[in-house]
Amino acid sequence: MGQEPEGKWHFFGRLEDAPSGGRLHGQVEGRYVTVLQHNGKLYCLDSVCFHAGGPLALGDIEALPGGQSCLKCPWHYYLVSLEGGEKWYQGTVAGPDGKLLPGLWKSVGQRQRTHNVEQRPDGIYVQLNLEGSLASDEYAHKHECGLRIQTGHLRLRRAPFPQHLHAANGAEGTRSPRVGSPRGERMGSPRSSPPASPRFSGEGEDCWPEDLPEPPLHGLRRGGMGSGGTQL
Ligand code: FES
Repeated sequence: MGQEPEGKWHFFGRLEDAPSGGRLHGQVEGRYVTVLQHNGKLYCLDSVCFHAGGPLALGDIEALPGGQSCLKCPWHYYLVSLEGGEKWYQGTVAGPDGKLLPGLWKSVGQRQRTHNVEQRPDGIYVQLNLEGSLASDEYAHKHECGLRIQTGHLRLRRAPFPQHLHAANGAEGTRSPRVGSPRGERMGSPRSSPPASPRFSGEGEDCWPEDLPEPPLHGLRRGGMGSGGTQL
């Protein structure tokens, strides 16, 4: 007991073959995982965000003051460290006038599962780390979440997921991202306009997650990390 299970190593691909952005998204034993290289090191973690199933693996990488490199989820901006899958947030401190000021960055512990990855002469191999249970397990096998990542499509659809690419390939959805928001910038990136796929078509309405009923998050302020409240 307590020993790491001897998981099988799976061939995952070659980074040279990764599309622009240098990230490889795929499935291992039915689980959606992503391999990326950052500062010369390979990382592998669950692709789908532990919080509400968002496309974490498509997020930008940010460095925290403590040196941790984190993926920033495009949906609610949670920061998840590449190294240990921890969720980080910035606490607050009371200023001299009683106003809350940004405080230290803190970790709530691991929420996103990370996996073993190694570069071999013929490509990248991944070994799942499935010990215990983690929050990201809830979404790790969800097809609609994984597809969103594999197609680079950040938005939700009110209609069943596979109907979305029709809009993504042509006119943008009926709800535009806010100008100047991180999502607005992202909409202009190549990742937001995946190539046409004959598999999906149909009607539906694009929306950002905030247009949907509130996800089960607490202590989070839109546009910034949570403070004070319970951190998931
Ligand atoms: Fe990723 Fe909410 S789904 S932060």
